Amino acid sequence: MRIIAPSILSADFSHLGEEIRAVEAAGADWIHIDVMDGHFVPNLTIGPGVVASLRKITRLPFDVHLMIAEPDRYLDAFLAAGSDFLTVHVEAAVHLHRTIAYIKEKGCKAGVSLNPATPPAMIEPVLADLDLLLIMTVNPGFGGQKFIPTMIPKIQAARRMIDATAPHVLLEVDGGITTANIGAVAAAGAVAFVAGNAVFSSPDYRHTIAALKE
Ligand code: DX5
Ligand code: ZN
Repeated sequence: MRIIAPSILSADFSHLGEEIRAVEAAGADWIHIDVMDGHFVPNLTIGPGVVASLRKITRLPFDVHLMIAEPDRYLDAFLAAGSDFLTVHVEAAVHLHRTIAYIKEKGCKAGVSLNPATPPAMIEPVLADLDLLLIMTVNPGFGGQKFIPTMIPKIQAARRMIDATAPHVLLEVDGGITTANIGAVAAAGAVAFVAGNAVFSSPDYRHTIAALKE
């Protein structure tokens, strides 16, 4: 299974609905939604109201990436808005086990994300409870950044951990993914790939998504 999740952070926000319909028609598997609070990361993006509006226009799974401090305060809002995967950062969630349990209790899939400087060992005790592990391959905050190549061995290490103890966990990567590096990232063990700039800055979404899958 290989999943391409275009990040709408790089879409044209003046017609977000059409952009989502366009990537859906072009073969996107999930829609990746980047939520930033200007605190955990130095940028402000999308709130639950926007997610709820977008929920009406597509059936594709919403892969909601919370780059926010104190994520527990906003879980209910993003659950109600129609998230299918709700991912929090290990660096932001003080009671991570409780947060994961809460998301799953509400019938949503739970993900945890690691910043580039955070070792995979940080989530080892909760790995089996997760549905998704998201490895950041840029420092979160902005679309269109360069992939950090030293994340390849980290992806491999996460793959080994998942294979050894929790093979149901989807391993996703996020940041700077392009047609040039996606092969190496897949070989390292990722199965889900966020792509913002690579998709939305390309002239032909269908062609780009097909090239990423290839
Ligand atoms: C970075 C976000 C990413 C980003 C990906 O903070 O979490 O999802 O939008 O965009 P690209 O693919 O352009 O790096
Ligand atoms: Zn993201």
